[in-house]
Amino acid sequence: MPLSLRFLLPLMLVVGLFAYAAVPLADTLMLRWFVRDLDTRSSLIASAVSEPLSGLVLTGSTPRIEQFFQRLTQDERLYAVGLCVAGRATPIATPEFPSDIACSSLRTHAGAAKAIIRGANGMLHLTVSPIDAGSAQPAQLAILHDMSFVERRSEETRRYLYAFFAVLAFLVALITVVVAQLSWRGWVNGLRAILRGEGIFRPAGGTVATPELRPIAGDVRELIRELEERYRPRDEGQLSWSAASVKAIVEREPGGGDVIVVSNREPYIHVRKADGAIGVQHPASGLVTALEPVMRACAGTWIAHGSGTADRETVDKHDRVDVPPGESAYRLRRVWLTPEEESGYYSGFANEGLWPLCHIAHVRPVFRSSDFAQYRAVNAKFADAVVKEARTDAPIVLVQDYHFALLPRMIRERLPNATVVTFWHIPWPNPEAFSICPWRAELLDGLLGSSILGFHTQFHCNNFLDTVDRTLEARVDRETFDVSFAGHATAVRRYPISIAWPPEPLARQWGVGHARAAVRERLGVGADVRVGVGIDRLDYTKGILERFHAVGRLLETHPEWVGRFTFVQIAAPTRGMIADYRDYASRAKALADEINQRFASSGVAPIRLIAEHHEADAVYEYYRAADVCIVSSLHDGMNLVAKEFVAARDDERGVLILSQFAGASRELPEALIVNPYDADQCAAALQRALTMPEDEQRDRMRLMRGLLREFNVYRWAGRMLMDAAAIRQRRKLGRRSRETAHAA
Ligand code: F6P
Repeated sequence: MPLSLRFLLPLMLVVGLFAYAAVPLADTLMLRWFVRDLDTRSSLIASAVSEPLSGLVLTGSTPRIEQFFQRLTQDERLYAVGLCVAGRATPIATPEFPSDIACSSLRTHAGAAKAIIRGANGMLHLTVSPIDAGSAQPAQLAILHDMSFVERRSEETRRYLYAFFAVLAFLVALITVVVAQLSWRGWVNGLRAILRGEGIFRPAGGTVATPELRPIAGDVRELIRELEERYRPRDEGQLSWSAASVKAIVEREPGGGDVIVVSNREPYIHVRKADGAIGVQHPASGLVTALEPVMRACAGTWIAHGSGTADRETVDKHDRVDVPPGESAYRLRRVWLTPEEESGYYSGFANEGLWPLCHIAHVRPVFRSSDFAQYRAVNAKFADAVVKEARTDAPIVLVQDYHFALLPRMIRERLPNATVVTFWHIPWPNPEAFSICPWRAELLDGLLGSSILGFHTQFHCNNFLDTVDRTLEARVDRETFDVSFAGHATAVRRYPISIAWPPEPLARQWGVGHARAAVRERLGVGADVRVGVGIDRLDYTKGILERFHAVGRLLETHPEWVGRFTFVQIAAPTRGMIADYRDYASRAKALADEINQRFASSGVAPIRLIAEHHEADAVYEYYRAADVCIVSSLHDGMNLVAKEFVAARDDERGVLILSQFAGASRELPEALIVNPYDADQCAAALQRALTMPEDEQRDRMRLMRGLLREFNVYRWAGRMLMDAAAIRQRRKLGRRSRETAHAA
């Protein structure tokens, strides 16, 4: 039944019942008023005629009395008159006087008594009054009034009443429906705002856009979370992937799980601030963004390079510190590097050699044997730390990234029962490209010490298999994607990395409206100015120059945006000891200046290059304030900025422009996919993004958000850990059957 009918039918029913009860009541009241009027009228007539009539009675002349009565009844209301005198059984009366009324029955009405009787033509009002004609001639005057007009009026009143109630019901219904519709729209918009996080000041004691919904805002969010949990589709026997599911997988391991993560970059950097106090920095690193929530769930040990200026002051005597600060969910074990080690292993071999080797960004890799020697030494140093931190002889060691290609083999040699899961966060090049590395065989040998080797995309897995095939005497199984080398098997698998869902910084964000206003105020532009954002390390692989060119091209081809669009590039300084990076930073600044100069007259700078580190909360505010986010990597393993932007937009608005050369483009096809080298195409994508209808933005965002919810970082880690558990199980079964065979 339509919603309005659900309001209207009961309303009509109640009004109908009301009318049904009110009409008889009105009838009774009207009758009472008319009878009272007729009583008064009758007694006035009786007293007026009393004197002449008593004279006529004394004459005893019936015809004269009849004549008198004839004159009297010329009043149309006065229906009939009769007079009973002593000695007569029937009254002297006008012809209309009902023949069935005898004097004997009239006497019962003597005095002021009245009655309503039914005559031949309808209801009659009867009063009987004594006429004083001397004690010898007692007489009663009967006056009959016609009451048919009462019935007519009652009928008319009833009709009016029914019409009145019908009109009343209609008006009440109309007002109810209109008010309900207006309130309904307000509530629906309010609920939408609650669901999108708009208008809700999330920090404690906050307010809601539609104040009457404030009491239910929390409950609605809770309900949605519950429903999401309940109806999220199954994935490999696992309901939704959350921190709890990863924790459960780890806890199923013997001894409750002995998980060790190794990465170069540490998740928490303690720094000595200008005022002398110690502060904590969160690095701009996709690896850290992804792994940190996983480690909170696993409660293991994270081994990383201690690079902060106050790192040494905050560890215990075993170089350990519990993190996150104040929460102590897991342990961070810091490894110290000398400046020579850092320069050779990190800046040199990892970032001047492997980084440009693996990324197609047309920056030439530099290979120095001194750097590789440091790389080998630092990998061995981390292997020592792993052995020291392992609580059992069979830990699960999650080795991260291109800084540690030699580490898996080193761990395998020292902890043969360990399960080593290595994840390569950057692209893997084709065999020709990789073959220029002088230590290619040693690197591959190191990686094949892993039980599992993961990449973001199948393309990179295939490149790796081809490279092994070309470089080593190994058995490459193209059906199972396993490599057997030196008596050991490595499973090469695709695990697309992601972010935690919901992302932690989102919980601390204010509504989107608040973020838009705050960012525009900070930029000094009006509310009508469209804002684009890019959030990256200032790295030549990120295509920052290319997106600046695209902004310039947009303003050339669509001058209507001059003064109405600004692009904010948050660029975290990175790898500053490498000349290519320093050079890239100055080229980015020069290009931004040049474009700003070109459009200076508008008063709104087309490009704001902010080359400073920003913490996650500030970054999320930019994501939420932006109309468009550009990720224009020239080559990227995955790129989590693209995923973070989508995750930040719980209002389902904003457009993502995404490079076809970022791994994320395989998972987010609803973004506007571009070739960053094609400035015209990127400018057209910007134009499309800035003019995209809200419905389309919502549809695209919804699809991308749905994917991220499912394919979150817990799934990434959970699938690797489940595969690791299966390998361990297989190994255990193999050992048991060997022992049985031996015993037999
Ligand atoms: O992309 C590979 C990667 O390790 C990312 O995880 C991270 O974003 C970046 O490089 C970190 O760079 P660095 O630790 O050198 O600052």
